[in-house]
Amino acid sequence: MEYSDKVMDHFTNPRNTGEIPDADGTGTVGNVKCGDIMKMDLKIENDIIKDAKFKTFGCGAAVATSSMATELIKGKNVDEAMDITNKAVMEALDGLPPIKVHCSCLAEEAIHAALWDYSQKTGRKIKGLKKPVNDIEELHLDD
Ligand code: FES
Repeated sequence: MEYSDKVMDHFTNPRNTGEIPDADGTGTVGNVKCGDIMKMDLKIENDIIKDAKFKTFGCGAAVATSSMATELIKGKNVDEAMDITNKAVMEALDGLPPIKVHCSCLAEEAIHAALWDYSQKTGRKIKGLKKPVNDIEELHLDD
């Protein structure tokens, strides 16, 4: 399996790992198939994502995509954060092997779960945001 230099860089030197103790939005999503779990914390001020951190029991691709996703959403407002799809993250990483695409969905869905939490707490509606799943298998990616 071939990984791009950017994937290898974000895997070996992941950005934004850890937790934000007073996070304004937090979400955890799993994948029963591989057993991996992703937790995402967001610090949000005036609808702007000031900080993002992730913690994972996940594979290398999950680490790399979450690392890149947190880099991309920092500084965005909560509506713009919806543009950081797994496809956008994969493009920023110069691609992922097809068998690893679901790992990037874990990062995207964890961000959605954290945004959902923020939306529930503050009443701020975020366009296009749906109630997140607990497990990305529920997204039926393979169907
Ligand atoms: Fe489970 Fe990558 S194999 S997230």
